[in-house]
Amino acid sequence: MHGRFTIEGFGRHVPERVLTNADLEAIVDTSDDWITTRTGIKERHIAAPGETSSDLAVVAARNALAQAGRTAQDLTHIFYATFTPDAVCPPASSILQEKLGIQGRSAVDMNAACSGFLYALEAGMGALALRPGSTALITASEITTCRTNWADRGTCVLFGDGAGAVILSDKEPKPGQAVIKDIITKSDGSLWPLLTVKAGGSGWPLKLGEQVKEDYFIEMNGPEVYKNAVRSMGQVCEEIVTRNGLAMDDVDLFIPHQANLRIIEAVGKRLKFTGDRVMVTVDRYGNTSAASVAIALSDAVSEGRVKSGSTVLLTTFGGGFTWGAAILKFI
Ligand code: UT7
Repeated sequence: MHGRFTIEGFGRHVPERVLTNADLEAIVDTSDDWITTRTGIKERHIAAPGETSSDLAVVAARNALAQAGRTAQDLTHIFYATFTPDAVCPPASSILQEKLGIQGRSAVDMNAACSGFLYALEAGMGALALRPGSTALITASEITTCRTNWADRGTCVLFGDGAGAVILSDKEPKPGQAVIKDIITKSDGSLWPLLTVKAGGSGWPLKLGEQVKEDYFIEMNGPEVYKNAVRSMGQVCEEIVTRNGLAMDDVDLFIPHQANLRIIEAVGKRLKFTGDRVMVTVDRYGNTSAASVAIALSDAVSEGRVKSGSTVLLTTFGGGFTWGAAILKFI
C-alpha cells in the first residue's frame, strides 16, 4: 500500500510509583474484585508530583534511539501524541526537543486522545514521504492522572501514566526492525460527548480563582464507549487485513488498545485472536491512553513476542471518537 517505512527502534517508560487496586480501595468505594473482573487491571504506574509528560517521553525516546543505534542528533522530526501535555503552550514536543539536547527540528504535538500514537505514526510517514531521508521520533506520552477525578470510581480505577516511542525512517530495515505495511485512522465527531476532558479548553475556560469542577477531569459514558470500542476496532482491523490481502490467521500478534481486558477479549473473539496471539499489558499499566499501544508494542519486542517474519496488527480507539489500525512486518 505505502512506500517502505521502517521502525528502527522501540522504547517505553513508566513512572516508578505503582498504584494497586488495594491502594484504590482506600481512596474510593471500590474493590480489587470489581476492578479485576470488570477491567482486568491489577495495578497502574502513576507519576510522582511534578513529573510531566515530557519527562516520561524523553526516557522512552532515549530507549528507542538506543535500540535503533541512533542518537537524538539524527532526528529531523518529532511527532508527539498526548492529551496531557506539560502545558497548553509551549508544545510538549518543543520541551522534549530541548530535553533531548537538539534544536531546530520539526516538533509538533498531536491530540487524537487514545488513538494518538497511530495518528502520529501516520503523520510521521507523511513527513518521510515528503522529505526522503528524514528520521522521525514518534512518541506518545500521558500523565492521565493529572486529569483523573479521584472521587469518581467509574473512571479513576481505569487509567495510568506512561510513554512509548519508536524511531521511524525510510532506510532499508535490518533484522529486529519492522516495516509499516499499512495504516488507517478514522474519527466520528458525532459521538464526542461520550468521552471528554472539557475544562481548560476554549469552550470551557477556567476563570482566575475559580475552583475546578468535574468537567476538568476525564468524564465517560463507560458502557457506550465500551460498545463503540469493540465495534470500531473490530471493523477497522477487518478492513486493513482485507485490503492487504491477508487473513486473520496471517497475523502472529494482535496488539489492541489497552483499556479493558473485556474489550480486548471481545474484539479478539470477533477477529478470532486468543491466547498468545493477543498482547495484554492492561493488567500492569491500566489505560495509558495514547501511550498504550506504543508501550505494548515496545514490551512485545523486548519480551520476544515477535520474531523475524512476524506480522503484527495494532488497533486503537479513543475519545472523539477516534480509532485506527496498522500492520507491521518484522524483518
Ligand atoms: O480508552 C478508551 C476509554 N475508555 C474505555 O475504553 C472504557 C470503556 N468502558 C469500560 O471499560 C466499562 O464500561 C467500565 C469498566 C468503565 C465499567 O464497566 P461496566 O461493566 O460497563 O459497569 P457499569 O458502568 O455498567 O457499572 C456497573 C456498576 C454500577 O453500579 P449499579 O448502578 O449497577 O449499582 C456502577 O456504579 O458498577 C458500579 N461501579 C463500580 N463499583 C465498584 C462503577 N465503577 C465502580 C468501581 N468499583 N470502580
